Amino acid sequence: MAFSNIELRNFRCFEKLSLDLSPKSTFLYGKNGCGKTSILESIFVASSGRSFRTSNLESLIKEGAEGFSIRAYDDLHGSILEIKKQRKHSINIKINDSKVTASELVRAFPSFSIDSKTFFYNDNAPEYRRKHIDRGLFVASPEYAKNWFGYFRALKQRNSALKQGSISQARAYDYQLVTHGERLNDLRQSLIQDTNTVFLELIKSLLTESARAKIFSEVSVNLFPGFDDNEGLQSELLKTNTYDLRRKSTTKGPHKADIIFDSKGSLIKDIFSRGEQKLLSILWSISQNIMLGRVYNLQPILLLDDLSSELDSEMLECFLPALKHIENRFIFSNIVDLFGSKIDESNEQLKKFHVEQRP
Ligand SMILES: Nc1ncnc2c1ncn2[C@@H]1O[C@H](COP(=O)(O)OP(=O)(O)O)[C@@H](O)[C@H]1O
Ligand SMILES: [Mg+2]
Repeated sequence: MAFSNIELRNFRCFEKLSLDLSPKSTFLYGKNGCGKTSILESIFVASSGRSFRTSNLESLIKEGAEGFSIRAYDDLHGSILEIKKQRKHSINIKINDSKVTASELVRAFPSFSIDSKTFFYNDNAPEYRRKHIDRGLFVASPEYAKNWFGYFRALKQRNSALKQGSISQARAYDYQLVTHGERLNDLRQSLIQDTNTVFLELIKSLLTESARAKIFSEVSVNLFPGFDDNEGLQSELLKTNTYDLRRKSTTKGPHKADIIFDSKGSLIKDIFSRGEQKLLSILWSISQNIMLGRVYNLQPILLLDDLSSELDSEMLECFLPALKHIENRFIFSNIVDLFGSKIDESNEQLKKFHVEQRP
């Protein structure tokens, strides 16, 4: 499911706002402080029950108001989503008048936000890149979620046994760790592989429009599993027993996984400029979204704030043709209008919205 319209009440700077979303790309533009990030934030809240930058949902309530509400409409299924948050109360989420939990919401309306922590910049902690794949797989595959919980439960118990200095107690969890862990790794590998197929297709098409796209055609993306998967997790755990005991924690396994982007044998983080890393992340995230639609029949929303920050005009030119390939909803913002009069109101593929605050 995906939203075609979203209505905000007392959400951050907006007392009232209604916005129609394109089934493909929706572009928000306007000067600093006009509310672009707030709109993206509201869509993230509407599809996760959480904020993407604060753990305090209360700070999203418009100053002076008692609470915010978000109402979203899915025209394909005729579903209505309502989210309400009153001060000092927990969030209330309803789909078609029935109360749902945040995890049910995420599965019904998945959304992903591309931000500087996730992929660009590649020297950020692996945790953020891992989270992006994990979130994708969580909504795509109930089997993944089951194995993820099984793995992390076993890992927690194994680590607590290691802290108590008991290797025999720790090893009692190896079987669960290996069974769930190997499965997590397989599902992650296939997600990366499927995304890569779409990514290569996308780059090939961009190459026909911009010479700058060439740098992306040399990129290879690999999952580092967090252990040697030729050896297998079982054997890796055995080999690191003594070391794990000394470190009081399990040092090998899918909880240490990362996605490695490289080009001609060098790591992207060492050779790509920040702008190039940012565009690479955007293209990779778009590919993952297209793949989730094609392979898992999902309609995830992709969010991107401040597109052109750190991108020069050539990088931007290199990116714009990618919009033709969007298959699910992509909502992105920029300070200035990138399209001028090139698109009109009847364009369903790309809707443009000038965000202006009316006092
Ligand atoms: N809870 C709130 N109540 C009222 N205004 C808020 C609240 N939170 C943020 N704002 C204001 O909303 C405005 C829009 O912010 P933002 O969406 O980040 O703008 P943009 O991304 O377009 O630069 C800012 O002026 C900010 O101070
Ligand atoms: Mg902003």
